[in-house]
Amino acid sequence: GELLILNGPNLNLLGTREPAIYGSATLDDVAGLVTSAANAAGFSAVCIQSNHEGELVDAIHAARGTAVGIIINAGAYTHTSVAIRDAIAAVELPAVEVHISNVHKREEFRHHSYLSAVVDAVIVGAGIHGYAMAVSYLDNVLA
Ligand code: DQA
Repeated sequence: GELLILNGPNLNLLGTREPAIYGSATLDDVAGLVTSAANAAGFSAVCIQSNHEGELVDAIHAARGTAVGIIINAGAYTHTSVAIRDAIAAVELPAVEVHISNVHKREEFRHHSYLSAVVDAVIVGAGIHGYAMAVSYLDNVLA
């Protein structure tokens, strides 16, 4: 089966963006890591990044019927987007929310996620390894 890995706004800048918070790995490094983890578990991986809320919604819709699970780091939309939440709820696929940084150590506005209540698992603060942890979770629940 296929795993959809979705990254939201500003994650294209990984590696140069606030490295003290997000580290020095790039989005390509994330794609490499998550693809290896997925392949090792017998999944294929499709990695999509977008800075646009509607494109993320469209990608979630398109996952219905093609993907067996979703891993999403919605970036700042995590804290604002009812539309992305509703899309995840609509497609009824196993889904994991990932945040590279520990959002709970940071500003108050990052403590609430619109997505957490509609995903199966949330991985926060594990750095980019969180994406591999998400693959491991999906491998377990889909086995
Ligand atoms: C993030 C945390 C969000 O608060 C922030 O807006 C991001 C990245 C993370 O991976 O730690 O863009 O989702």
